[in-house]
Amino acid sequence: MSRRRQIYEGKAKILYEGPEPGTIIQYFKDDATAFNAQKKGTINGKGVINNRISEYVFTRLNHIGVPTHFIRRLNMREQLVRQVEIVPIEVVVRNVAAGSICQRLGLTEGEPLPHTLIEYCLKDDALGDPKISEEEIACFNWAGSEEMADISSMAIRINDFLCGMFAAIDIRLIDFKLEFGRLWDGDYSRIILADEISPDGCRLWDMTTGEKLDKDRFRRDLGGEEEAYREVARRLGLLTEDSGPGEVLDMAHHRGRLRGAIKKK
Ligand code: TMP
Ligand code: ASP
Repeated sequence: MSRRRQIYEGKAKILYEGPEPGTIIQYFKDDATAFNAQKKGTINGKGVINNRISEYVFTRLNHIGVPTHFIRRLNMREQLVRQVEIVPIEVVVRNVAAGSICQRLGLTEGEPLPHTLIEYCLKDDALGDPKISEEEIACFNWAGSEEMADISSMAIRINDFLCGMFAAIDIRLIDFKLEFGRLWDGDYSRIILADEISPDGCRLWDMTTGEKLDKDRFRRDLGGEEEAYREVARRLGLLTEDSGPGEVLDMAHHRGRLRGAIKKK
């Protein structure tokens, strides 16, 4: 037996060669980074939870006709996905002012935006993922005009779907980041959704209390990040009593700890 080949190690995931050509295995780590990896830590169990949340979201997106790289979950921390050529652009969709847009434009966090905004950032850690314009994307050919039309229309469709999906579990979708890839078939490629959708790359606020249920708990040293990620999974119906010995959770205990952690701030 030969050991499987590692293709790439990112901040939150490792990619391995898949069992068939054109497939990749995504392994979800517990590592957490923020501010372009200037802040590093771990969130216990995050990889397991993000694997499940991303599986759930991508499966539902596939059902409504959004093409994604997701094939199937393999185990607690791994999923099988289609191999794509990642478009070097981070696509950020914002419904409510939070994070960098507040600093950049002097907005108050929590202010609803007049309408949904899509921002593009270049995927380049050395440059700190700078915000880029559509003119720059075209000028440097990071993506073609038809590709950008597909990316922006998919981003809006995904936002509409996710806003409803989270609203149904009393969560407000503030903003999130998407990555897309080119799926090649001979000389032609089409754009599909890649990477992951999880509390690592979304801002999710409890609709009633405004509690942050995402990576801002880690970024801003609020504490309670494990409980927050579990709470999102629990509300999506992904943590059940029969999810395995290691996964049986005392949710009342976790909810109590989350409230406690949040009250202290
Ligand atoms: P920002 O307010 O820091 O620009 O982030 C906007 C959204 O994008 C937020 O939900 C977090 C997500 N995001 C990532 O997933 N990765 C990143 O590298 C950055 C900067 C943001
Ligand atoms: N994932 C990015 C990083 O490490 C930024 C973030 O999510 O805040 O650095």
